[in-house]
Amino acid sequence: MYKILEARELAANIYLMEVEAQRIAKRCQPGQFIIVRTDEEGERIPLTICDYDREKGTVTIVFQIVGAGTKKMAKLQAGDYFHDFVGPLGCASELVNEPEEELKKKSILFVAGGVGTAPVYPQVKWLKGKGVAADVIVGAKTKDLLILEKEMEAVAGNLYVTTDDGSYGRSGMVTQTVKDLVEEGKHYDVCIAIGPMIMMKFVCKLTKELGIPTVVSLNPIMVDGTGMCGACRVTVDGEVKFACVDGPEFDGHKVDFDQAMKRQQMYKTAEGRAALKEEEGDTHHGGCGNCG
Ligand code: NAD
Ligand code: FES
Repeated sequence: MYKILEARELAANIYLMEVEAQRIAKRCQPGQFIIVRTDEEGERIPLTICDYDREKGTVTIVFQIVGAGTKKMAKLQAGDYFHDFVGPLGCASELVNEPEEELKKKSILFVAGGVGTAPVYPQVKWLKGKGVAADVIVGAKTKDLLILEKEMEAVAGNLYVTTDDGSYGRSGMVTQTVKDLVEEGKHYDVCIAIGPMIMMKFVCKLTKELGIPTVVSLNPIMVDGTGMCGACRVTVDGEVKFACVDGPEFDGHKVDFDQAMKRQQMYKTAEGRAALKEEEGDTHHGGCGNCG
C-alpha cells in the first residue's frame, strides 16, 4: 500500500498527488512512468512521473479526470492509500544519457500542452540541476487550466505561456509560439513536445518544416505496462513499437500519429478492439483480455 502525503486540485478536474514510494523515488528518472490502482478491482492507470524526492522517498503524479478510474482516484485524500503504485516503467528521457558537456552545448526547447506540462517539469528541473537552462512553452486552453506555472518558472531558462483563447500570456496554440520564437531569431537544436496527441502531431509537422529534431512522449492506452498486452502499440518509422517498453519517448518525426489517434479511439469499444484484432493479425497480442 502506498500512502498519499499530499492531494490537491491544480485546476478544474486536474489533481496533484505526492505519494510515498521509496523504491521508485530512489530509481526513477525523468521521462519514466508508473501505473496506479486505487484498489484490487481498480483500473490500471499509467501516469508519467511529474516529480520525485529521493531523500523523502516520494513520487509526485498529476492526472486529469477522464473516466471512472480517475474519478475514483480524485476522491482520495492525504492519508489514504493506493493499492498499487508500480514503476518506474518505460525508458528514461534520452537527455539523461547524454554526456553533460554535450548537453550544455545544446539549445533545448520544451513544448508542454495542458496536462502534458506535468511530465515536462522533471526533465526541465533535471536539466537545471546540470546547469542547462531550457526554453519552455506551456500551452493551456484558458488561464484557469494552466498548471505548474510557478514551478516551471523556477527551473526554465525562459518560460512562454500561451492560452488558446488569449486569456493569459501569448494568444494562440503552442505551435504559434514555436513559430514566433524561431522568427524572432531563436535557434533550437532539439524540441521535446509532450501533450495531447493532436498537439504533438502538429508540433512535429512544424518542427519538421523548421528542421528541428523533435522527441515526443506518447501515452496511448496501456494495460500491463510490460510489453505483453499490446494495448500501447504504435508505429514509428514503419516499425511496430510498444510505448510502455520501447518508449514512451520516440522520434516525433517518425511517429504515425494518425494511426495512433485512430487506434486510441478504436480501443475504447469492443467493436473497435475486434476490428484491431482483425487488422493486426498475428502481431495483435490480445493480452489485454478485452478483445477475445
Ligand atoms: P488541451 O486539449 O487543453 O491542449 C493543450 C494545448 O495543446 C493547447 O492549449 C494548445 O496549445 C495545444 N494544442 C491542442 N491542440 C492543438 C493543435 N491541433 N495544434 C497545435 N497545438 C494544439 O490539453 P489537455 O486537455 O490537457 O490534454 C489532455 C490530453 O493530453 C489527454 O488526451 C491526455 O491523455 C494527454 N496527455 C498526454 C501526456 C503525454 O505524456 N503525452 C501526458 C498527460 C496528458
Ligand atoms: Fe504496453 Fe501492454 S501496455 S504492451
